[in-house]
Amino acid sequence: MDRIRVRGGAALKGEIAISGSKNASLPLMVATLLTDQSLVLHNVPRLADIDTMIALLEQHGTHVSASPGENGHRRGTTLTLTTRDIDSTTAPYDIVRKMRASVLVLGPLVARCGEARVSLPGGCAIGTRPVDLHIAGLQAMGATIELDGGYMIARAKDGLRGVRYVFPKVSVGATENLLMAAVLAKGETILDNAAREPEIGDLANCLVAMGARISGIGSETLRIEGVDALRPAEHVVIPDRIETGTYAMAVAMTGGDVELVHGRVELLEAAADTLRQCGVECVATARGMRVSRRDGVLRGVDAMTEPFPGFPTDLQAQFMSLMTRAEGAAMITETIFENRFMHVPELSRMGANITIHGTSALVRGVPKLRGAEVMATDLRASVSLAIAALAAEGDTTLHRVYHLDRGYERLEEKLAACGADVERLMGR
Ligand code: UD1
Repeated sequence: MDRIRVRGGAALKGEIAISGSKNASLPLMVATLLTDQSLVLHNVPRLADIDTMIALLEQHGTHVSASPGENGHRRGTTLTLTTRDIDSTTAPYDIVRKMRASVLVLGPLVARCGEARVSLPGGCAIGTRPVDLHIAGLQAMGATIELDGGYMIARAKDGLRGVRYVFPKVSVGATENLLMAAVLAKGETILDNAAREPEIGDLANCLVAMGARISGIGSETLRIEGVDALRPAEHVVIPDRIETGTYAMAVAMTGGDVELVHGRVELLEAAADTLRQCGVECVATARGMRVSRRDGVLRGVDAMTEPFPGFPTDLQAQFMSLMTRAEGAAMITETIFENRFMHVPELSRMGANITIHGTSALVRGVPKLRGAEVMATDLRASVSLAIAALAAEGDTTLHRVYHLDRGYERLEEKLAACGADVERLMGR
């Protein structure tokens, strides 16, 4: 397994190109299952999760061709997805267990084929993460769902019908699943208390380009008028706001000055505001966003994760890393996922002073961190350790790099290009 070695101390300087959004690309790719027409997606990042989604779609019958992007989309990949026929309506355990977002095929498969058999995702490193809302929403649209042998078996022989569904809790994945299902349902579907994450807006805009009739995009009430069939479409994936926020924290951690090219500050206002309170400059530029902390003091500031437009849970671990070196203390509260403080013991091994009180972590800034051998159990926890390593004395070796590769395209290259002393140690 690959490892990444980081020697801390260098301030990041220069520019980093932000890739297309992973969490937008995954549902956008699944949208191919709604139609026999082609869907072309530009600016798809090159990540392990994207490969997993390609494998899942191929076994459903999708033909996927990938080419390096062109016309200004050089950093990403252009995918052409065509699903003339659905060969299999089963999403097998072996793929779903690798990537939870696989459950997004449930709604589109039932909508198009009247049936789907999708493995339950099973345990997850960041809490139990149930799929009850995906199931309840589809049942409200007329599907029957049984659980058998670890699989959800959904049927809607006469198709799905429009309904008003109020989410009892905000869920990104369930909103995406039901939004896609509703596109082919009979009549009007109203999704209330829908998640408002920018990735959902991106999916909705692409579905509209494919011929879907959706209003209320970007709000908590989505109205979808079902259509019989969709048309070919082409779409450019939005930049990854979590990758943008992650590098912003890395730059702040090292006291550097970097332009995050393609980054869009309006997609991460809550995190940018928090960073500004800490003493970090985050300003929009013509090409993206510039982050700097030239000689400035880093102040401890509290943060609480919330659904969009609040502070994203996917930046909680990275922000905690940053706060380990702040002046004063920061209280960081996680409200979205249980058990999402698994980076804390590893940060502590590097010299951080963090105490957990239920769903909050009290971080008291320390004058220095020390390099160590560390490993993480999920994607964002992993990158938080890389951020800590950038400001630590001595060498840090990050194990289980495959977590990082699920969500960060060429992390070590992007950091090294800005002056970080970082390298990937292959294999072993
Ligand atoms: C998506 C993102 C993930 C991000 C999360 C929250 C993708 C591929 N992943 O995950 O990176 O951290 O949004 O912003 O886009 N819940 C239920 N029942 C359900 C579904 C969810 O109780 O049926 C709960 C979850 O356990 C969690 C909360 O709702 O506590 C939010 O989860 P959700 O928004 O669904 O996250 P994902 O879509 O899995």
